[in-house]
Amino acid sequence: MQRRFEQIELEYAEAGQGPVVLLLHGFACDLRMWDDNVAQLAEKFRVVRFSFRGAGASPLDGNFSIDDLADDALRVLDGLKIPLAAIVGLSMGGYVALAFARRHAARMSALVLVDTKAAADSDAAKAMRDQGVQLIEQYGARAFAATVPERLLAPSANAVLRERVREMAVQPDAGMITALKAMRARPDRTRELSLIRCPTLCVVGENDILTPPEEAHAMAARIPGARVHVIPHVGHMSNLEAPTEFNTVLLDFLSTELLAR
Ligand code: MLT
Repeated sequence: MQRRFEQIELEYAEAGQGPVVLLLHGFACDLRMWDDNVAQLAEKFRVVRFSFRGAGASPLDGNFSIDDLADDALRVLDGLKIPLAAIVGLSMGGYVALAFARRHAARMSALVLVDTKAAADSDAAKAMRDQGVQLIEQYGARAFAATVPERLLAPSANAVLRERVREMAVQPDAGMITALKAMRARPDRTRELSLIRCPTLCVVGENDILTPPEEAHAMAARIPGARVHVIPHVGHMSNLEAPTEFNTVLLDFLSTELLAR
């Protein structure tokens, strides 16, 4: 469904009732990234998700930064009259979640950082972003998407999931380029982690080569009371590679923090 949130048009979807959980997807994805997670979560929670600007059916509407996407998340909450939400962000969605934690902490009931990190891009990572931009400019998003399953999924991921991830990674060219530039420019948020005051869980795939378990442990060590859950045998897209374990871990955490109190 398409909806205007203040001046921004965004694709969004929601399901269920109860305390609100807002899901923030990764790069080269859109709100469909959570398709395997919503039904189970929605048994206990009101689950809201949207596609970032320039992803899925959300129009690009000019340049954006990671902070802009965090402000869009706030616009979605405001538009739906939601005072408080648990923020769950995977990878780029995690960068947005950390920006949200910095900018809108009072609206966050809990935080789940999935396969993500607080550090900024290294010089090598910035060079990879530039190569990604060139590839898309020259050959289009489909060429970039072809490289995605191998980089993001564990070697054990099956062919059906590989194809699904490759297909979802074909996002609008301009949106992908803008997102790559936004990730390249994002600040190091490591020093902000100690300011987070809500219950926090870091989830990571054991074989995530992009944001490995050490990153999750490093974040959790700085966030007061944060815990880490490592999902064995999966890569960067742990919610899709091991949906059953991912859903159980997320539900356990959110139920303890949002329902049992
Ligand atoms: C993502 O999965 O959101 C991105 O690959 C993260 C990144 O490139 O830093």
